[in-house]
Formats: sequence, C-alpha cells, structure tokens
Amino acid sequence: MDLKSLPFQQIQTIFSEAQKIKSNKNSTISFSGETIALLFFEASTRTRLSFETAAFRLGLGPLLLDGGVKSSLEKGESIEDSILNVAAMHPRFLVVRCGDSFDLSGLAKKIQIPLINAGWGVKGHPTQALLDIFTMQESLGDLSGKKILFVGDIRHSRVAASHFELADVLKTQMAVCCPPEFLPENNKLKIFENLNEALAWADVVMTLRCQFERHQSGFKIFSAQDYRKNYGLNQTRLQKLHAKALIMHPGPINHGIELESEVLQDSRCRVLEQVSNGVYVRQATLRLMLEGKL
Ligand code: CP
Repeated sequence: MDLKSLPFQQIQTIFSEAQKIKSNKNSTISFSGETIALLFFEASTRTRLSFETAAFRLGLGPLLLDGGVKSSLEKGESIEDSILNVAAMHPRFLVVRCGDSFDLSGLAKKIQIPLINAGWGVKGHPTQALLDIFTMQESLGDLSGKKILFVGDIRHSRVAASHFELADVLKTQMAVCCPPEFLPENNKLKIFENLNEALAWADVVMTLRCQFERHQSGFKIFSAQDYRKNYGLNQTRLQKLHAKALIMHPGPINHGIELESEVLQDSRCRVLEQVSNGVYVRQATLRLMLEGKL
C-alpha cells in the first residue's frame, strides 16, 4: 500500500469501517477457510500480533514466519524465494516486514497476491501511520490544519516517512524537533530547535524511538543521557503542551530516553489506544480488500 496514492476518501472509508468494527457493528466472520501469510523478517510485537488478531477476527488462518527462525532462511534460502514459495500456497494476502536492502516493491510486481507493507526498513510503515491518524481523528476530529510534531529519530523512522506521505492528503502541518543527526534528508519540514517551544505549538506530539540498531558505525551520536536531557518527554516539559493535545508513540518505547514512564499516565497519552486501534484499522483494511472495496 502506497499512502501517497491513497485518496482522502479511501482513508476515510477505512476509518469508517474500523469505527464500525470498534463499536461491534461489523464483526461477522466471513472468510473462514482462507489464509493470510505474515512474513516478518525483522522483529515485531505490535504489528505482527495486530495483523494476527485482525486475521483471526475475519476468519483468516494466519501462516506465520517469525524472524526467519527455524525456516529455510537458515539453510540459505533468500527472502525473495521464501516469499515466492509461500505465495505459491495461495494465501489471500502477504503481509511482509523486511529491511531496506530487500526490494519489496520489485517483488510485489512479480506476484498476483496483494502484498501489505508491515514495516519496510526506514522506507515506510503505512498501516502504522493509518492507525495513528485514526487515533488522532477520534480525539481531534478533522485533522486539516492540525499541527503534528515529531520528536525523536526521524531520520531512521519508517513511521515518520509514512506520515510525511499522508500530510498533503490530510492537509496537516508537520514539524520536527530532534538533534541535527536525526533530521531526515531533503526535508522541507518546520524545524524546532527547542522542545518547549515545539510542545507549545503542537496539537499532537508523536515521540519516536531512538533506533540505535540502525545507526551505522561512525554515525555521530551523542549519549542517551544527552538525548534525554534535551529531547526526552517528562511531566515538567508536558506542562507546555495544550490541555487537549495528544501524546503518542508507535512503540516500542525506550523508557528513560525518549520519554519517562510517568508520561504514559498522562490523560493526553494515547499510546495503548494506538495499539487497540491498530487491530481495528488492519481488520478494516483487510475486510475492504477482501470485499474488493479497496
Ligand atoms: N509500531 C511497531 O511497528 O511496533 P512493532 O515493531 O512491535 O511491530
């Protein structure tokens, strides 16, 4: 799924279906006997289990390849061969998480089965961006003109990359606050150097994980303590944030680095609501695709 080419109306169709599922108005199982392949070549908790829950609720049997452990990848089989072989078992969907080095869009052109990006390196994580937007809309209504602030490792965040694709469609304003090393390349975003000023501006603050595993050797990085001091969210800093603003994080969280655990108790925090909504949005997306409406 490419968010740049997903029209506003289709996004709202997904959200309307997700809302119906959330309020138990569209929970019929209708696709039993069919399968969905969940092929995760990089670690995941939320996305994998969220797709698995959505699949169970739709009656789709999940075929799970989790991190490639105990699979023929251990015998040297390539990711492409693995996916092509699973595709030959004719699941209704292939849901794939993989690193940047794998050509996921090239593979999608070789198969007839719908392929859903469940997090592709730093390139994008479309269903995460959709569930985030759904969560924002639930509290804030129409997002047109709303101010969304990203704080954290934006350069290495596939979640931020997908949100930046959605900004034109949704007409949201986007800003970032992070160390220069974490700024994305070629960005035309509003940049805040001071976190307190950024928080005072925002309707939503989306905190992002410092992705230490993606920092190549030689990458100029400061200590986690420096980061926490200048960019970490805590209750004192959150006094700058509007009373009706939202605090979000796609997870997983580095507690005590990008935010203090106390932040999760703030009434403006939607972190676990994001996870719950992830199931509804993914279930809605799969259902609409199965019904030929997406
Ligand atoms: N938000 C997210 O993608 O989390 P996981 O890596 O646990 O799937």
